Amino acid sequence: MQPFALDDGTVHLAAPTLDDVDAITAACQDPDIAAWTVLPSPYTRDDALGFVRDHVAPGWERGDVLTWAVRESVGPSGVPGPDGLGPLLGMVGLGLDDAPASQRSAELGYWMTPAGRGRGLATAAGRLVVDAAFDPEVLGLARLSWQAYVGNWPSRRLAWRLGFRVEGTVRGHAVQRGVRRDAWVATLLADDPREPAEPWTHPVSAARTAG
Ligand SMILES: CC(C)(COP(=O)(O)OP(=O)(O)OC[C@H]1O[C@@H](n2cnc3c(N)ncnc32)[C@H](O)[C@@H]1OP(=O)(O)O)[C@@H](O)C(=O)NCCC(=O)NCCS
Repeated sequence: MQPFALDDGTVHLAAPTLDDVDAITAACQDPDIAAWTVLPSPYTRDDALGFVRDHVAPGWERGDVLTWAVRESVGPSGVPGPDGLGPLLGMVGLGLDDAPASQRSAELGYWMTPAGRGRGLATAAGRLVVDAAFDPEVLGLARLSWQAYVGNWPSRRLAWRLGFRVEGTVRGHAVQRGVRRDAWVATLLADDPREPAEPWTHPVSAARTAG
């Protein structure tokens, strides 16, 4: 599959390239990214190089791992201005399963740099990717899934904003750097409303403080 960009006038999403390696290396020094993802920790420039070269590029080529770097948009047209796009502020991606085309599901994942957080940019990026995932003219997926280690309220709140329904806590669901951790799991189906499915019953401050 050819990498494609997405833009809503707020955020610009495009496949990261080798030009982004230094920015990715810097971003992934953040302790919250280490705490809540499976990215290597400590994170080196070689890790970023391997991510772009061995994960992002072949993923797009196969069409089953689709990764976008998040930047602020340069405007509704999405056409870069004379100064180009702004700095890399995060990453959002889909990992597709191998079900037949009309039945495919993908897992949504994301991280933002500290400078990119709390501004609605991650939500905008997630929404763009969700819409592309379900658009029959784009990816035409049937289902999206999300998972986060228990306690990752900012991630859960973002998934909630996009319409994901948390369906439970799965004990020992995923291994993070050799340690098995409990995780929340959620799903969003193609026909689900893309807005909160239920009121937020957790303290709002939980989303801001536990990260
Ligand atoms: C998960 C993560 C991407 C969420 O990012 P985030 O900053 O909470 O998400 P957003 O940028 O969409 O910010 C939403 C918040 O910004 C606020 N906001 C501020 N200005 C806004 C604007 N102009 N438009 C919309 N929202 C705005 C919203 O009100 C919301 O705050 P609230 O949660 O208190 O209601 C981020 O915390 C992160 O990178 N964490 C570390 C890595 C990680 O955990 N990844 C996920 C693994 S499962």
